[in-house]
Order: sequence, then structure tokens, then C-alpha cells
Amino acid sequence: MNVRKAVIPVAGLGTRFLPASKAIPKEMLTIVDRPTIQYIVEEVVASGIEQIIFITSAGKSAIENHFDYDFALDHVLHEKKKTRLAEEINHIANLIDIVSVRQKKPMGLGHAIWMARKVVGDEPFAVLLGDDLVLSEQPCLKQMINLYNEVQESVVAIQRVSEEETCQYGIVEGREHSPRVHRVERMVEKPAPGTTRSDMAIIGRYILDPDIFDILGKTTPGHGGEIQLTDALLALANRRGMYAYEFEGTRFDAGDKLGYLKAILAFALRHPDICENFSDHIKEVAQSL
Ligand code: UTP
Repeated sequence: MNVRKAVIPVAGLGTRFLPASKAIPKEMLTIVDRPTIQYIVEEVVASGIEQIIFITSAGKSAIENHFDYDFALDHVLHEKKKTRLAEEINHIANLIDIVSVRQKKPMGLGHAIWMARKVVGDEPFAVLLGDDLVLSEQPCLKQMINLYNEVQESVVAIQRVSEEETCQYGIVEGREHSPRVHRVERMVEKPAPGTTRSDMAIIGRYILDPDIFDILGKTTPGHGGEIQLTDALLALANRRGMYAYEFEGTRFDAGDKLGYLKAILAFALRHPDICENFSDHIKEVAQSL
């Protein structure tokens, strides 16, 4: 079965980015000239997905508005003969079919994904976290879909992390299947240092079998009263099988201050309008340190 739908949870509180994220969703913070969430939607579109399901909450309407058609703005831009800008703005609204589902309380990522069950139905689907950016030649999700088409089982994207960092991630343990691909055998959420020998950290990209909804529906809230995803992923791996895929590219946690700044740097250095001047500026700054 083809992967046609992508769920993007954006209902979290974004506490790591307060006060910036108090009135503006952190997913709407700008990386060079577009909000973080637009890069993610563009990755989804470039991967051949047909529909996006945003899991939103009160205060996140700016995200839906960003991808909506703005009649008044379109009219004014045309009147002012700013046709190119009008086309660019309308292009964003025409990128893909978008559906929104409200998560009424931030009850965790697992719960956010469960909210999509009625719209997704009984088919495999992708999940992309709204604050996780990947810079790559081939879109990360496309790489994962290629693997999914081969193995026909759930796929989680992973990156290698240092021993000190393992305690910040869900860690996968498994057996090598082929280059960059591991069959998942065990998963631990934020393991204490020294309790795992694996350095394979799960990042915010998944392709999941719809069985995950059944599992999430039976999952009891864990730490902080939230429905965690990792336990449900392990149950899915045991029930159906799952692969961990070491994608080609660089991932940025744009929901974290340092990760966000690193993302700005990386994307600015690749932006055709500013890369040269920006690169000169970075060299000047580096010399003055
Ligand atoms: P994070 O933990 O990174 O985001 O969740 P957060 O909760 O918004 O941020 P902090 O930790 O308080 O700073 C990963 C993704 O899951 C979504 C978030 O919006 C983010 O994109 N999420 C998280 C939900 O949609 N609902 C939730 O209940 C929790």
C-alpha cells in the first residue's frame, strides 16, 4: 500500500521556546524567509504525499492561516502589481490538501498521533514532527518511503548520537538488515547513561502501520500524564516488525534554541539570495572571536 497521508503534530506548548512561543507558535518562527513548518510541508509535498493532517491546538491558527488562501492579500498584491509575490503567496496555499484536527489538551505526542485515526483510516501513514527539520539532497521522508515500499513495515528515522546525548532521545536497538537499515528489536525512551550500547536515536520522522492507533488507544498515560509514543512504537515493532533507517542528511531540532540557530545558519548558507554575503559575514565573525 502507498503512503499517501502525513500527520504533523503541532499542538505542543513549546515551553523550550518561551517567551517567543507564547503568542506565536514555535513552528511559525522564521528560518531565513519562511516559517519552520513550511520547510516540513515542502518536504512532504516533495515526497509525493497527497494529504496533510495537522494536529493543532488553540493558539495555533497562524499555522492553518499560513497555508490558507488570503483573498484580501491576493487582491491588494495584484492591485499593487506585485504579481510575483502574489503568485508565491498563492503557491503556498496550493501546495497540498490540508486537514486539521484539534488536540484539546497537550496529552503527549502519542495522543496527538492517535487524534488522526479517523482521518488516516486503515492505511500506512507518515508522521513528521512540526519542529524537526532535515536538510538533505533527497527529502528525508522520500528516502523513508523508498525503504517502506521495499520492506512494507513501519520505518523510523534515526541519527547517530554521542553517548552523552542518548539520554535525550528514544533509542533503538536492533540488528543490521542492510547498509543504513536496522531491524528494530528494542526501544528505550531517554535511557540513563550506560544502560544501552546503541547510539541510534529516533528523530521526528516516522512511517507507521495503522495498527499503531489500536495500540495507542490502549496505552495508559505515562510520565507527566502524557501518552508517550515510544512504548507504542515498541509494541508495534513486536506486533508487526519495524525498521530503523539512518537517513542521509542533517537534522535540526528547531524547537530548541541552539538547534534553531544552527538551522538558520545551515539554511542561510544555502539560500541563493544571501549565501555569499552571509558566508563572508560568518568568516568575519569567526575571525573576531
Ligand atoms: P515536543 O516535546 O518537541 O514539543 O513535541 P512541545 O511539547 O511543543 O515543546 P516543549 O518540549 O514544551 O518545548 C514534539 C512535537 O509533538 C507535538 C509538538 O507540537 C511538537 O511538534 N506535540 C507534543 C503535540 O502535538 N501534542 C502534544 O501533546 C505534545
